[in-house]
Amino acid sequence: EKGGYDHFMLKEIHEQPKAVIDTYRGRMLADKGMVRMSGIDNHMNKFLNADRIIIVACGTSWHAGLVGEYLIEDMARIPVEVEYASEFRYRNPIITSNDVVIAISQSGETADTLAAIKLAKSKGAFVFGICNVVGSSIARETHAGAYTHAGPEIGVASTKAFTTQITVLTLISLKLASKKGTLSKSALRMYLQKMQLIPNKIEELLKIDDKVKEIAAVYKDAPNCLYLGRGFNFPVALEGALKLKEISYIHAEGYPAAEMKHGPIALIDENMPIFVIATNKGHYEKVVSNIQEIKSRAGKIIAIVTEGDTTVKEIADHVIEIPETEEALTPLLTTIPFQLLSYHIAVMLNKNVDQPRNLAKSVTVE
Ligand code: M6R
Repeated sequence: EKGGYDHFMLKEIHEQPKAVIDTYRGRMLADKGMVRMSGIDNHMNKFLNADRIIIVACGTSWHAGLVGEYLIEDMARIPVEVEYASEFRYRNPIITSNDVVIAISQSGETADTLAAIKLAKSKGAFVFGICNVVGSSIARETHAGAYTHAGPEIGVASTKAFTTQITVLTLISLKLASKKGTLSKSALRMYLQKMQLIPNKIEELLKIDDKVKEIAAVYKDAPNCLYLGRGFNFPVALEGALKLKEISYIHAEGYPAAEMKHGPIALIDENMPIFVIATNKGHYEKVVSNIQEIKSRAGKIIAIVTEGDTTVKEIADHVIEIPETEEALTPLLTTIPFQLLSYHIAVMLNKNVDQPRNLAKSVTVE
């Protein structure tokens, strides 16, 4: 059942190239320069006339929602807000029939997300679901939606659900952008072609497992870790920290890189590992200067860089290279080494990888 892997989590990490293909199959028509998604096509006016899009979710799905915010605002120029479903539902939110709500949930059963949907519907909003489990409560409760088609995710720590949610959000952004004309035909084609290359690039990244294992062995006993990223990769930093916390029980925090100097920098000394995403187009110089600030306080840097990088390589203690792609698509790659890293640390610490203590796969009570 684990397909020869020791754990479901590792199996699911390795399934990602296929899961991403399954997600975009039939939707991404790269040769025609088109995205086809019936859930969006059938309700295009709702999206085009929306004052704003509000994304509601919990946990990893909320992180995917944040990537969605960066994607939709950048490509389709529609204002997006991302809310924890648990906060949204209890704070008397201002929501009208001009709002579109996108609910993201792997299981489709998360109590807070379901309640947020019901609230949004009661205020007249159009609610679109992004779920993995077919026929789940959230899939049924929403007006329309798109399945991720990731296949069953058994490991409590979400992996392929995250990358496939981001894939759906990328397709939605491209679809809306092409309809609105905020992205040229040639740019759309370019993105679709680059999307098609992503599964192979994930495959390539999965091969660096030994290197990630070496890094895991060095830092597995750290009591605390920081994860930093900017732009499209800020949510990946949050997700990297969540992955480490939930399966290895190491305290980790994700931060936007530039926020470091507003507090967390005080934590940095020679015992603090800091995982930094420094891809070549993502505010690179600014992240490099953050890395220098960390180094001058003796922090340990593990950097995720674009292949061929030289600057960060000289300063960092370890680097992990990701293949080149468009910056907006990098979360699909940068998240992979973090998943592997958490996995190996948890295994080395003898933790229950697939069923961490105190956690349930789907949180059906608030
Ligand atoms: O099924 P959902 O996507 O609604 O679940 C949301 C969270 O409970 C979930 O992502 C949780 O944070 C995972 N354990 C993360 O790995």
